[in-house]
Amino acid sequence: MNPSDVDLSTTYLGLTLRSPLVASPSPLTGDVDSARRLAAAGVGALVLPSLFEEEIVAEELSLTAALEAGAGVNPEATNYFPPVEGATLADRYLANLERIKSAVDVPVIASLNATSVGAWSRYAELVVRAGADAVELNVYRVAANPQFAAADIETADLELISDVCAKAKVPVAVKLSPYYSSMAHFVHQVIRAGASGLVLFNRFYQPDIDLETMDVECRLELSTRVELGLPLRWIAMLRPQIPDSVSLAATSGVHAGKDAAKALAVGANAVMMTSELLRLGPERVAGVETELRSWLAEHEYDSAAQLRGSVSRVTAEAGEAFERANYMATLRSWVGVGAGPRR
Ligand SMILES: Cc1cc2nc3c(=O)[nH]c(=O)nc-3n(C[C@H](O)[C@H](O)[C@H](O)COP(=O)(O)O)c2cc1C
Repeated sequence: MNPSDVDLSTTYLGLTLRSPLVASPSPLTGDVDSARRLAAAGVGALVLPSLFEEEIVAEELSLTAALEAGAGVNPEATNYFPPVEGATLADRYLANLERIKSAVDVPVIASLNATSVGAWSRYAELVVRAGADAVELNVYRVAANPQFAAADIETADLELISDVCAKAKVPVAVKLSPYYSSMAHFVHQVIRAGASGLVLFNRFYQPDIDLETMDVECRLELSTRVELGLPLRWIAMLRPQIPDSVSLAATSGVHAGKDAAKALAVGANAVMMTSELLRLGPERVAGVETELRSWLAEHEYDSAAQLRGSVSRVTAEAGEAFERANYMATLRSWVGVGAGPRR
């Protein structure tokens, strides 16, 4: 098989993508020029950086305060309000989405990042009006309040998910953290709440401490390939449990064609990349695609679809034993420092 003849097309969130390689949210996907370069390099779709609930709410609060301040200037001048400078961040997001949508020939997915139901969720409708082909809802939460039990947090998340799914009127993928106590159960509820897909997983950025100043420092480290293990494992376990119509995307630790092949093998419909593209530029997509095509051709796959899910089928047969056995086997695989990798 000639690598260039391998069919990479995939279905993700009901959309037909020419390639499973998707650019996940980052500054690259929010810039018209680099979005064009990503599309030219072969991405199947791109996901815009998130519009954050906190930013929308903060702007709405300051707008309300400005309007109230204006109303107090002269009660008789009912139509006087101080000018609110420039468009809001949310307006700029929508305008940028429109620009990117008209600049590229691949599906554009808008991203909303939120933790609670609120008036802000009308942006799920507005991004679709601005041209988004689908919505990715990032539920990024650090469960640090001892008053909330796991069930409270899950209930709040599900309320948020069903609200956004109802408003969006296009397929919604939910980007989850890996920290739910009963992941498989929660994923089923997310699907029942209306999600058409899951993006696994959010990367949590851990703050560091400056020992000289005792300040907490926010530092963004790009991912490494080791991080792919978590999405691989969960996609492998979830794929056989959920309907084929529900899409799964792998995110975290995809840096090369073989990583994409692994994600497809466990059943991913889409394989997302950020760190690798930030490090090497949008054109790296073409290199990853070449690596993926070569691997598929060498292993006699005609298409990405043919590879998709082959590992999941094996894990499904192994059933629950897989999880414990895998844990024990991993611990027993340790052969000592300096012995080199076993694979
Ligand atoms: C600079 C930067 C900005 C990001 N912005 C967003 C964002 O706005 N929304 C989001 O859901 N994820 C965001 N992410 C997370 C990525 O989309 C991706 O899920 C994560 O980096 C893991 O993928 P990777 O291993 O390919 O980097 C960002 C990541 C980076 C490095």
